[in-house]
Amino acid sequence: MAAEQRSVIVTGSSRGIGRAVAKRLAADGFAVTVNYAGNQKSADEAVAAIVGAGGRAVAVQADVAQAGDVARLFDETETAFGRVDALVNNAGVMSMTPIAETDDATFDRMFATNVRGTFLTLRAAAKRLRDGGRIVNFSTSATHLQLPGYATYCATKAAVEVYTAILAKELRGRSITVNAVAPGPVATELFFEGKSEEHVARLANLNPFGRLGEPEDIARVVSFLLSADAGWVNGQVIRANGGMV
Ligand SMILES: NC(=O)c1ccc[n+]([C@@H]2O[C@H](COP(=O)([O-])OP(=O)(O)OC[C@H]3O[C@@H](n4cnc5c(N)ncnc54)[C@H](OP(=O)(O)O)[C@@H]3O)[C@@H](O)[C@H]2O)c1
Repeated sequence: MAAEQRSVIVTGSSRGIGRAVAKRLAADGFAVTVNYAGNQKSADEAVAAIVGAGGRAVAVQADVAQAGDVARLFDETETAFGRVDALVNNAGVMSMTPIAETDDATFDRMFATNVRGTFLTLRAAAKRLRDGGRIVNFSTSATHLQLPGYATYCATKAAVEVYTAILAKELRGRSITVNAVAPGPVATELFFEGKSEEHVARLANLNPFGRLGEPEDIARVVSFLLSADAGWVNGQVIRANGGMV
């Protein structure tokens, strides 16, 4: 029966890590809502890849920083799949500038998507996820590296980590786990933007494997956190970076 299949919303899953997460969770047996901000073609490709592999998925445009969009994201998932069991809060943006050169618009853009977006989706999930569900937020290992240029981005992710720990406690009695994944550098558009080859090579070498993470490296961790085996992991931030920090 279709309504017996668990469903998951993966924010920002048209591209990058989110797309790999959506594909992996579909292979794990979830019906998947592929959320995107503006890139419908990529979202449709992600859905086609899932359906082509025998899974179930729908694409839903929604800006996670807009409360009305977030409500519609949950509504359309319920309409498509009859239930919402899990939320993967992957949508995020990054700009790298020293504090002295960070303009107001850059600050606002990162806080809107990364913090307000996380808050709005968590608020909806706290009300609408089925008991026994799962939430995975996205932080970054950069919060521990603390390299120059990353301050505002890391500040947004520090907020995400606090939301993770506190929501895990607020959902007492619901058997819902709330965790965060904190990747190191992963080969996606977000990571490569504005970096020279030399800069990329330096960051790839910070872990003992001497390579960048691949989106699938992170998707495997999310898959575990959504599995029954991870039921006792709650309120944690799991760093997935090959041993960088
Ligand atoms: N890549 C890394 O090295 C790295 C390291 C640590 C943490 N992370 C975190 O991992 C997550 C995914 O990063 P990524 O590298 O995969 O990024 P990406 O390749 O740039 O993809 C970003 C995704 O987020 C969506 N998105 C952006 N703003 C949105 C909004 N306001 N509402 C809904 N969706 C939105 C984009 O949709 P459209 O396609 O429609 O634009 C896209 O699907 C982020 O939270 C990032 O901070 C990444």
